[in-house]
Amino acid sequence: MLSVTDLHARYGRIPILNGIRLEVAAGEFVGVLGHNGMGKTTLLKALMGFVPAQRGRILFDGVDVTHEPPYARARRGLGYVPQGREIFPGLSVRDNLRMGFVGRGTEERVDAILQMFPRLIPLLDRRGGTLSGGEQQLLAIARCLAGHPKVILFDEPTEGIQPSIIEELVAVLRRLHRTEALTIVLVEQNLEFIAELAQRVLLIQKGAILRELEPEELRQAGVLSEFVGV
Ligand SMILES: Nc1ncnc2c1ncn2[C@@H]1O[C@H](COP(=O)(O)OP(=O)(O)OP(=O)(O)O)[C@@H](O)[C@H]1O
Ligand SMILES: [Mg+2]
Repeated sequence: MLSVTDLHARYGRIPILNGIRLEVAAGEFVGVLGHNGMGKTTLLKALMGFVPAQRGRILFDGVDVTHEPPYARARRGLGYVPQGREIFPGLSVRDNLRMGFVGRGTEERVDAILQMFPRLIPLLDRRGGTLSGGEQQLLAIARCLAGHPKVILFDEPTEGIQPSIIEELVAVLRRLHRTEALTIVLVEQNLEFIAELAQRVLLIQKGAILRELEPEELRQAGVLSEFVGV
């Protein structure tokens, strides 16, 4: 579904991604873990096309999208839930959902998604900016789903979210993977969250994939202090 080879990216003259190699099969749930500033967000932005690839190739569902703009990738079914959620604070919740259509969604799709996020139903006419952090995170995920993605790239969905909502997020992501059969790439620093959901976990260090781990290995202390600093 996603096949990335030798991906390089930089901000100005500072290299951030240094030869990322990544294979994600259809229906897989892959976690990405790494220290602050190691390039996790930059990796997802490069996959979406918000940061240009300096070198390397990105195949999505068999198509070379390396030089396509973000909207074209979104239309092919590459979904993105950004770090910090980035909902539109001045738009209503319903209009935030419509912003996720990317040429693929419909009003019926919104209704279907709301079944999965009943918590958003009484909030539909509220401005996005007045939602709590957890509600905004659910909205960001629902907005992404509005565009019928095949793959979703999640960037730290648990960041700043209280434990009770994190449990809800686990259930939502599990459902997207198991019931909706979506392919998922999850960047996280919450080890428990990633260990509970991912089928395998990639460790990113200085813009390259250093190692691959089984989720159970995340619970072993040594590995973590070495690679995540906890
Ligand atoms: N727009 C930008 N311009 C210049 N440098 C940037 C820009 N965005 C990020 N960087 C730098 O690139 C490096 C990687 O950033 P990135 O956001 O990919 O890290 P991250 O692994 O997602 O970190 P975090 O866990 O804190 O979210 C950092 O050193 C960061 O300061
Ligand atoms: Mg980040």
